[in-house]
Amino acid sequence: MNGRRLGVGIAGLGGAGARVLPALTGLEGVELVAAADIRPEARRHFEATHHGRAFPSVAAMCASSAIDVVYIATPSHLHCEHTIEATQAGKHVICEKPMAVNLGDCDRMITSALGQGVHLLQGHSKVLDTPVRAMRGVIASGVIGDVFHIDSWNFNDWIRRPRLAPELDSATGGGVVMRQGPAQVDIVRYLVDRPVISVRAVSGSRASGLATEGHYTALITFEGGATASLSFNGYGYFDIAEFTTQPDSLSPIPRPWPAGPVDSARKYHGQPDGDAAPRPAMPGLPFCGLTLVSCERGVMRQSGEGILVYTDKGPESIPLSPQSGRAAAFVELRDALNEGRPVFPDGVWGKATLAVCLAILESSRQGREIWLTDQRAGHEA
Ligand SMILES: NC(=O)c1ccc[n+]([C@@H]2O[C@H](COP(=O)([O-])OP(=O)(O)OC[C@H]3O[C@@H](n4cnc5c(N)ncnc54)[C@H](O)[C@@H]3O)[C@@H](O)[C@H]2O)c1
Repeated sequence: MNGRRLGVGIAGLGGAGARVLPALTGLEGVELVAAADIRPEARRHFEATHHGRAFPSVAAMCASSAIDVVYIATPSHLHCEHTIEATQAGKHVICEKPMAVNLGDCDRMITSALGQGVHLLQGHSKVLDTPVRAMRGVIASGVIGDVFHIDSWNFNDWIRRPRLAPELDSATGGGVVMRQGPAQVDIVRYLVDRPVISVRAVSGSRASGLATEGHYTALITFEGGATASLSFNGYGYFDIAEFTTQPDSLSPIPRPWPAGPVDSARKYHGQPDGDAAPRPAMPGLPFCGLTLVSCERGVMRQSGEGILVYTDKGPESIPLSPQSGRAAAFVELRDALNEGRPVFPDGVWGKATLAVCLAILESSRQGREIWLTDQRAGHEA
């Protein structure tokens, strides 16, 4: 880097891209220089509100020598194509979740980055969020012993937001297992810090007119015997923030049910990120549902201000500063480059998380436990 700032290009200016932009403000050593989107109105809005050029394709943006890193926030089924375009142009990549839509694509992305000697970082991972990091720190300290079980609950209105057809098909990265599952899976994999060995899950749809998963429940077993139980409900009646960061605010009246997939004009209706946005960002800490971590000598959970650790001495509050995974991914990449070390979480980690999400779908389809054999690599970092 020779001390110069890391030039960032954002691929995709929809919901995720719009949330990355503010995360870049004020980040030392990092500078937003460009974006790419196929929608002219998104490009116009970007150029009117940011110092930077907007390109009509990811390939055109990657030709710019001002860019060192590309943040991939295009639809999930394009992550592989766009990551390969960026890495082949010699750019580092931070890729939104899910990393891709199948494991073969993950392999191609990893191989391309490796071959070009650039970093591939799993972006927007909950393992970079301060509360998750703090919980892992408590586990690593040994004070409350090893993790033997984690309960992770998330309830939001994912299924009621306007969705393009690929967002409602798990084969193209749609549905809540592919779109929301990586967050819960990342958290439990990171906290248990052992390879996943099996998954038994049921997913289903209770949204009339939408043939996609809107809920799931999964039991994950890790090497050594620890377990995690994941529940997700995206039907919009209840928002889990009520149990976590916003205990004084009841869930809002849900949006109307969508009649089916919408087209791009309806999804964005001229706005940079349309109305697909989740509930307005909460002040304070990033979170992903309620995570209750059961250890041998205590229990932990996230609170509104940090984390709470419950032991024989009673609850202890550990306050934390708010930093989300979206900003932290840039910090991680910048620091890894300056220190000459690998990034974490990398493509191997992202692939292992995708494998668990695919196993949730497969277990539900087959009505049986799915055994995983390729989960060790992510834990060697
Ligand atoms: N919205 C979120 O807060 C959120 C949260 C977690 C993960 N993600 C992930 O981010 C990715 C994008 O999700 P989203 O909600 O922002 O979707 P979105 O549909 O709102 O945005 C995608 C953007 O990519 C653009 N695009 C489509 N094809 C393109 C191409 N070939 N070249 C350049 N731009 C192209 C679209 O015009 C759109 O602006 C997905 O992988 C999703 O899983 C999003």
